[in-house]
Parts: sequence; structure tokens; C-alpha cells
Amino acid sequence: MIDNLLDNALKFSPPGSRIWIDLFKLGVAAIVSVTDQGQGIPDAELHRLFGTFSRLSNKPTGGEASNGLGLSTVRRIIEAHDGVVGVESRVGRGSSFRVVLPFSRSNAV
Ligand SMILES: Nc1ncnc2c1ncn2[C@@H]1O[C@H](COP(=O)(O)OP(=O)(O)OP(=O)(O)O)[C@@H](O)[C@H]1O
Ligand SMILES: [Mg+2]
Repeated sequence: MIDNLLDNALKFSPPGSRIWIDLFKLGVAAIVSVTDQGQGIPDAELHRLFGTFSRLSNKPTGGEASNGLGLSTVRRIIEAHDGVVGVESRVGRGSSFRVVLPFSRSNAV
């Protein structure tokens, strides 16, 4: 999950930009976020972001492969652990993917 989010942060950001990974505990859940200073995702495309074979108008900045499978896998992994994933993004500013994972099934979010 982290690998896929980090891969995207690198792939859709310009060379030399910064990426943050944050991990903290909030009550009964772990919060993980991966934040980049990349291209950002247009609002009109957000509904396709987690789809299978879903590639948006953003293109890799270093010629990397783009199959459109990573985020659908991320969402499946997280939902299989009763968690949720969301994104905040601004075009030209960057994106922040945030994952909430409960520590046990009885605390499903
Ligand atoms: N951090 C990001 N910043 C900007 N656009 C993104 C970001 N992450 C994903 N996207 C957009 O969402 C699309 C889907 O992402 P996803 O990870 O599913 O596929 P991919 O990275 O293109 O290919 P794969 O993960 O299979 O190698 C990407 O093609 C890209 O257009
Ligand atoms: Mg990807």
C-alpha cells in the first residue's frame, strides 16, 4: 500500500520536489499519509482515481510505466482491513493521500 502511494508521489511530481510520509495514532486507528508537491489531480477526474486501469490526464514525469492499477489495489487492500482511503489535491500544488486503518475489526471505520 505504502509502496504504491510512494511510487505515485514520485512518478507524478517534478524532480527535486519533496514528499512527506506521516504516520500517527488517532484513538483506535492508525493514520498514514503520503503527500507530494506534484501535478495535483483535477476535481473532474477524482471520481476515476481508484478505478481499475484508470489513468488520468496526469502523466509520469520521468517516463515511468503507468498501468492504472496501483490505486485500485491500494483501495482493495485498505478495505480488506476495514479501513478507508481519501485524497486531497490541488492542481499545480500537490496531492495528499490519507489512509485510516483501525487496529482491530471491532473498530472498523
Ligand atoms: N500522487 C499523484 N499525483 C497526481 N496524479 C496521480 C497521483 N497518483 C495517481 N495519480 C493519477 O491517477 C492515476 C491512477 O493511479 P494508479 O496508481 O492507479 O495508476 P498508475 O500509477 O498510472 O499505474 P500503476 O500504479 O499501475 O503503475 C495515475 O495514472 C495518475 O494519472
Ligand atoms: Mg501507481
